[in-house]
Amino acid sequence: MERTALIYYSLEGHTDLIAQKMSKELDCPTIRLHLKKEFSTTNKFLKYFWAGKSAALHEKPALANKPIDLSPYDTLIVATPVWAGNVSSPVRSFLATNVIEGKRVYLVAHDSGGSFEKCFATIRALLPKSKVQKEIGFVKVTKETYSTHKEKLEAFCKEILAGK
Ligand SMILES: Cc1cc2nc3c(=O)[nH]c(=O)nc-3n(C[C@H](O)[C@H](O)[C@H](O)COP(=O)(O)O)c2cc1C
Repeated sequence: MERTALIYYSLEGHTDLIAQKMSKELDCPTIRLHLKKEFSTTNKFLKYFWAGKSAALHEKPALANKPIDLSPYDTLIVATPVWAGNVSSPVRSFLATNVIEGKRVYLVAHDSGGSFEKCFATIRALLPKSKVQKEIGFVKVTKETYSTHKEKLEAFCKEILAGK
């Protein structure tokens, strides 16, 4: 039986919103990654400094999640915020600690500037044994702006359901 799961990290809720909308469209479970020691968002400078440094230095901070059994799924959607032009460090941790082999993979990224290629290239390189089917980037998705992103998100979900 074909099964899909959406694995994601979200520090401030934007990627979470996308994940929840996609989960509803696809009727699939979501697995949210959490860090043992979460980045603080109370101080903007420190947030950019520590989270940005961890992404720029390709750090793999420890995840708080229990080991994730990916065997029931043949399709994985991996969603990440873009940090310092790259994949967020918690998603890097997930990709480094799980062997993802022979799955159909879709990538989702969210940022505030619309530059996703380096992030996607990094993830593809971290997934040498899976085929990345399609990638999609979203910019500044909030509850208030969701209606302007809805059509794009739903079209992407239709492609996933069609196995494209
Ligand atoms: C440490 C850090 C670095 C970021 N670097 C970028 C960047 O290089 N380009 C960009 O467009 N947005 C950047 N952003 C904005 C994030 O992509 C945006 O806040 C994120 O997608 C929000 O997702 P979330 O709410 O799920 O955490 C950065 C944000 C943080 C916290």
